[in-house]
Amino acid sequence: MNIYVCIGSSCHQRSSYAVMRQLKAMIAENRLGNSVFVSSAFCLGHCAAGVTIQIDDEIITGVGMGNIADIFQDRILAAVR
Ligand code: FES
Repeated sequence: MNIYVCIGSSCHQRSSYAVMRQLKAMIAENRLGNSVFVSSAFCLGHCAAGVTIQIDDEIITGVGMGNIADIFQDRILAAVR
């Protein structure tokens, strides 16, 4: 599974780096480092609704520190287990 976190200027201003750090921490905690890969991406085309992430082919907008744990549980953990 590949996850891209937008670090374009709009998403960057909305703390996309914190989202990425949290994602990497949760992946490590769950020992998913060999199956879930996080990388940065430049503008994913949904700036007004950022932070934007892409999980494989699915775009998810409105991501932040308040919902990244739920997104991880529902969209990432559930898909790989
Ligand atoms: S800057 Fe993130 S979607 Fe455009």
